[in-house]
Parts: sequence; structure tokens; C-alpha cells
Amino acid sequence: MFDFTLRNGITIPAVGFGTYKAAEDGVENLVTALDVGYRHFDTASFYETEEALREAIRRSGISRKELFLTSKAWMDETGAGAYEACERTLQRLGTDYLDLYLIHWPAFTGNWEEDRARDRETWTAFQKLYRDGKVRAIGVSNFLPHHLMDLAQLGGEQPQVDQLELHPGHGQDAAVEYCRAQGILPEAWSPLGRARMLREPLLGELAEKYGKSPAQICLCFCLQQGLLPLPKASSRERMRENLDIFDITLSDSDLSRLRTLPPMGWSGEHPDRENVAPDVR
Ligand SMILES: NC(=O)c1ccc[n+]([C@@H]2O[C@H](COP(=O)([O-])OP(=O)(O)OC[C@H]3O[C@@H](n4cnc5c(N)ncnc54)[C@H](OP(=O)(O)O)[C@@H]3O)[C@@H](O)[C@H]2O)c1
Repeated sequence: MFDFTLRNGITIPAVGFGTYKAAEDGVENLVTALDVGYRHFDTASFYETEEALREAIRRSGISRKELFLTSKAWMDETGAGAYEACERTLQRLGTDYLDLYLIHWPAFTGNWEEDRARDRETWTAFQKLYRDGKVRAIGVSNFLPHHLMDLAQLGGEQPQVDQLELHPGHGQDAAVEYCRAQGILPEAWSPLGRARMLREPLLGELAEKYGKSPAQICLCFCLQQGLLPLPKASSRERMRENLDIFDITLSDSDLSRLRTLPPMGWSGEHPDRENVAPDVR
């Protein structure tokens, strides 16, 4: 596996293990992910997997410095309180620093000015966490260019990462292009479209052609575009499969076919719309 390098020079393993709903699979499942070779884990206070991850790391015996741990501030942990929220996350994870801390979603009440002021307040707390060495990198999730432009007005340290829903059928080109132009690494949440994508005939065709599975084609689709995928899986077999993606290169035309699929597999979540559906986070 290769690493991506963030603007501040820190490296981040090219595939992360998604932990949303992973607590339902038990600590043992996270131990298996560590055993299979995952060293980069994506958690969030909202997922309630931070303590399970702490226990899995303890059981694995793998040292903290070999791991890249990301967590996120949930919607009720924004504003100045984000600083203490991060400290609580550190306690639950049993570590004294995070590798990456993200604002999980931009504020949304429907009042644009108030929402952006809230995000700036959260980001000010994040900048302090970064200066204080509690986190090695700070970023955002589900921020679109207009949200990022607003944060840029604050000056100081800017997001290193934007975690977005990205998979074939949902490429979010405007957001990805903006991230690239600003040196922000786009990470792909639901890179398998939470398995909604896997029966798409083009994925089946390319899986056959490259001798891979549809899930592996989705992950290659991300990596070849410089998007860091965060697949979640519940079995050792799938965990392995999702890491076994570094021996093929999709042709330019196959990548283009995937990039120009009609819109499909979208979760339905949008940061400027009411509510986050309970099933998507
Ligand atoms: N920032 C955000 O707002 C946000 C939102 C959503 C997710 N995320 C992050 O992104 C991570 C991944 O997203 P996700 O969990 O929504 O969806 P996903 O990784 O796209 O898909 C997971 C689903 O695909 C199945 N799967 C995994 N590997 C497979 C394989 N090789 N073949 C067939 N099926 C396979 C899993 O089944 P089994 O589990 O049964 O194996 C599970 O049902 C989350 O865990 C979380 O860390 C972030």
C-alpha cells in the first residue's frame, strides 16, 4: 500500500478502514482489520466506535505510532466546544493525539450567515487543537466549495482533507476539483456506495475484465483519481479483498466510463438540505 501526503507533509495510508456501524460487528472485527493489515481507521464520536477501536488496538499489540487515527466532531460538538469534544475523543481512543480531526458536517439550520459563523467558530477551535499538538492534521467532511471558501476567510491553517461521499455514479466533480486546486486531499466515504453500487452492470463487466470484484473496481476508481477510500467490511475475506487493489490499473477509457455513469447510488444526503438521514453518517 502507498501513502498519500498531506500539505503539511504527514503521510496517510492510501486505504482507511471505515468504522460506521462497525461496533455492531464487535471489537473482534476491528482486531481482524488490524490483523489483516489496516493501519488507518476512520471513526467519529457519532459512530460510538472509539472505545471499541481503543480495545482492538490494545488487543492487537500494535504501537500507536504505526497507526493513523481519524475522528470527527459531530453536529452537537461544534463551536468553541469542539476543543473539549476532541479531548473526550482522545480519552475514548486512549491516545494523546489524533492524526486527523474533521468537522463531520457543515452547520445547517437554514440560516446561511449563522451557519457559516458556527463553522468558523468550530474551525477556530480546530486551529487551536492543531497549534496545541493535539491533532497532526485538521480537516472537514461534507464541505462543498462554498463552505470551504467561507472558512478560507478566517485565514490561518486551512483544511488538509475533505471527506465526501464519492463512488462511481456520484463523483462530486465540483467539490473534488476545488479540493485539488486548494491542495486538500479528498477522502471517499461510502466508496462502495454502501453496496448499492455493486450490481451495476459496468462494474460487473470491468470486474470480469480485470479479474477483480466489483468492490475492488470501486476502490481502484477512487485511488486512480487520487481519492482516498474508506471501505467498511465485516469479514476477514472482504477486508482482505478491499486491500488487494494495488495490482491493476484501469485504462483511461474504463475510468472515463465509470466517471460518466449516470447519477446512481447516492445516499441522498446533502449538507445544504434538512437533516442527515439516520442511516447515513
Ligand atoms: N463523513 C461522513 O459523513 C461519512 C458518512 C458515511 C460513512 N463514512 C465513513 O465511510 C466508511 C465507509 O462507508 P459506508 O460504511 O457507508 O459504506 P461502504 O464502505 O461503501 O460499504 C459498506 C458495505 O459494503 C459491504 N462490503 C464491504 N466490502 C465488500 C466487498 N468486498 N464485497 C461486497 N460487499 C462489501 C459491507 O458489508 P459487510 O459490512 O456486511 O461486510 C457494507 O454493507 C464508514 O464506515 C465511515 O467510516 C463517513
